[in-house]
Amino acid sequence: MASALQKPLVLGHRGACGYRPEHTLASYQLAIDMGADYIEPDLVSTKDGILIARHENEISETTDVATKFPDRKTTKTIDGKSVTGWFTEDFTLKEIKTLRAKERLAFRDHSYDGQFEIPTFKEVIELAQSQGKKLKRTIGLYPETKHPTYFQSIKLSLEEPLAKELKAAGLNKKSSAVFIQSFELTNLKKLKGLTKNKLVYLIDDPELVPADFQASGDKRTYLEMVSKMENLKDIKKTADGIGPYKRYIIPEKDGKKLPPTELVKTAHAVGLLVHPYTFRSEEKYLLKEYNKDPKAEYLDFFALGVDGVFSDFAADAVAARDAYVKEQTQKEKR
Ligand code: G3P
Ligand code: CA
Repeated sequence: MASALQKPLVLGHRGACGYRPEHTLASYQLAIDMGADYIEPDLVSTKDGILIARHENEISETTDVATKFPDRKTTKTIDGKSVTGWFTEDFTLKEIKTLRAKERLAFRDHSYDGQFEIPTFKEVIELAQSQGKKLKRTIGLYPETKHPTYFQSIKLSLEEPLAKELKAAGLNKKSSAVFIQSFELTNLKKLKGLTKNKLVYLIDDPELVPADFQASGDKRTYLEMVSKMENLKDIKKTADGIGPYKRYIIPEKDGKKLPPTELVKTAHAVGLLVHPYTFRSEEKYLLKEYNKDPKAEYLDFFALGVDGVFSDFAADAVAARDAYVKEQTQKEKR
């Protein structure tokens, strides 16, 4: 499926969050500047039903909410787990806009903490479209619905506003440069009835049962969803691709590579694209064989035929992808 002429996509994971606080316009802008094909906003809802870009609905790790709203701390059950903190669904957009983003990870750059607002999905779409016009290239959008079953249970379902925003921006066609992703197949099925966009089913840790399956009593794990042909075919009825954790493709043991699996081949055999996550350039995330060189990891996955990669470091992903495509093109000419 992914040949030299169909170059693998670089998907700017949470923007370019290796360099800027995740899910800020500055992070998305940098991913665009670095050449990412798509930018990836994770989406949750505010109290007034507006989609905003955050990785979780609990936002104390990535914003200054704890200092601005100390008395709004609470405990909830989200997808079967007890979570204590500050939740987007308890704040209006006006309140959310008073917050400022901060870097989640201690070992990344904190010099931008306190500078950037939390963007709405609409603002992310506007950025992609205005930058696309300016740069004369398409900037794709790869929105992810976070905790859709939970949001449905509190009457703030994500699917309708997502479909509505895409339609308003003229981005609701199959051919639009948009992939909608979710860890929940039920959510994708609902979206399929609301919009024509391409859909991607995310594959989490092998032993986990997806939150929507838990709610409906379906006992299948993510591993079963991708290791059994009948389940891959079932996914294909709804989705255009899968977004697996990258260890489903190149497993590891004690920080060393194990032989690759057949997942890319079997997914392609049923007509599913494969976009693994997440590629990170820091040494701590790289297997020993890559000798601290992130490019070596990308090349390994490209050689296995993946159709795109979610990367925190868009510049490294683009450089590796371009080198791969150049080499393959030269090989095909020989
Ligand atoms: O969307 C692909 C990947 O982002 C899924 O993982 O947890 O970073 O949203 P997460
Ligand atoms: Ca995501």
